[in-house]
Amino acid sequence: MKPMTLYAATSNAGKLRDFATATAAHGIEIATLPNLAQIPAPPEDEPTFEGNARTKAIYYSEQAPGLLVLADDSGLEVDALEGAPGVRSARYADDELYPQTPGSTTDERNNACLLHALTDVPDACRAARYRCVLAVARDGMVTHTAEGTVEGHILTAPRGTGGFGYDPLFFIPERNQTMAEISLEAKHELSHRGRAFRALLAQLS
Ligand code: IMP
Repeated sequence: MKPMTLYAATSNAGKLRDFATATAAHGIEIATLPNLAQIPAPPEDEPTFEGNARTKAIYYSEQAPGLLVLADDSGLEVDALEGAPGVRSARYADDELYPQTPGSTTDERNNACLLHALTDVPDACRAARYRCVLAVARDGMVTHTAEGTVEGHILTAPRGTGGFGYDPLFFIPERNQTMAEISLEAKHELSHRGRAFRALLAQLS
């Protein structure tokens, strides 16, 4: 039987790598949505991950008739910051007007902004989680959604070179490693995106 193809509506290289690992683990095809770069991005102004994931899946599926479109909305919730940066994770440093260091990437600036916000917060109070909501839509209708989370805490300095986003600061106590120190396969096993993906597959099959 021909494997099902999900068309991922994201240009985030880190998310695409995570999806590629999921593909290998589950024998499902994931392709990037055709002409994604030419499609203007929709606003992501819903207050919840689910709202944004649904909005993106509906919007992009209307641009690609007949295809099963997969959208991801995800981010980091830090308890000491009352759940921030949350749905604003990708734009955190911009929102906080955190200074730009010449040559630094968006991820580096967001991480510096997070460390700054947690300057006086002791280790015991740095609990955080990643949350991911996946939504699948076809022709403007959401067919499935799934959610995954992973618990950890925020270090005081980055560790590791893998992953993306906040991974070098996100410490997983059970593994004694950050998300940037584990392999892509291990990340798929325990991450918010891996968990959401498996929950989605359970519905799709
Ligand atoms: P979105 O594109 O609006 O869903 O923003 C997701 C943002 O959340 C990313 O740009 C990262 O800052 C953060 N994020 C989500 N998932 C991960 C992950 O697996 N590792 C590190 N950061 C993540």
